[in-house]
Amino acid sequence: MKATISEILLTEEAIRNRVLELGRQLDRDYDGPIKMICVLKGAVPFLADLMRAVTKPVFIDFLAVSSYGQSSESSGVVRLTKDLDESIEGEDVLIVEDIIDTGLTLQYLRQNMLARKPKSLKVAVLLDKVERRRVDVPVDYVGFTVPDRFLVGYGLDYAGHFRNLPYVAAIDLEEETHGES
Ligand code: IMP
Ligand code: MG
Repeated sequence: MKATISEILLTEEAIRNRVLELGRQLDRDYDGPIKMICVLKGAVPFLADLMRAVTKPVFIDFLAVSSYGQSSESSGVVRLTKDLDESIEGEDVLIVEDIIDTGLTLQYLRQNMLARKPKSLKVAVLLDKVERRRVDVPVDYVGFTVPDRFLVGYGLDYAGHFRNLPYVAAIDLEEETHGES
């Protein structure tokens, strides 16, 4: 499939302003240090900006998940492909994720993190594709609600491409034509 950018949905400036607001909200909501857990790889830009928008002490750790299968549809079966480096027991933990779609990934992650006995557990997502939800997952901080389109940029990818775009855009997918016309 050939992917082309069809429309910019969130500009660099809109994202920056919203992330700053979320940072101020976190500052109000938390007393002590926040342990931010970044879900690799898509949440890297969001984590980097969000942690700098907070003035309270922030600690970070990383995990990676994959849902079985290669399609852009979530298969519903999630597994950890990289675990945290450190224990989160007794800590105020914030999962930082790029986008919630069906909710299956975050449902799995919440259960997995809760089993490790944090003092508190909340979830921050930059984007919420609310129409597509299949399971009900509590999300505490949402950057933007987005339509049901395939999005790239600011960490989000299509087959690894477009993560470095500073904005969020929708893409069009087209069959590649080979030779014949
Ligand atoms: P969920 O388990 O269906 O909520 O899927 C969440 C994961 O699917 C996200 O962490 C993304 O990796 C991926 N995802 C969902 N929608 C998009 C999209 O529009 N663009 C890129 N990745 C997406
Ligand atoms: Mg992801």
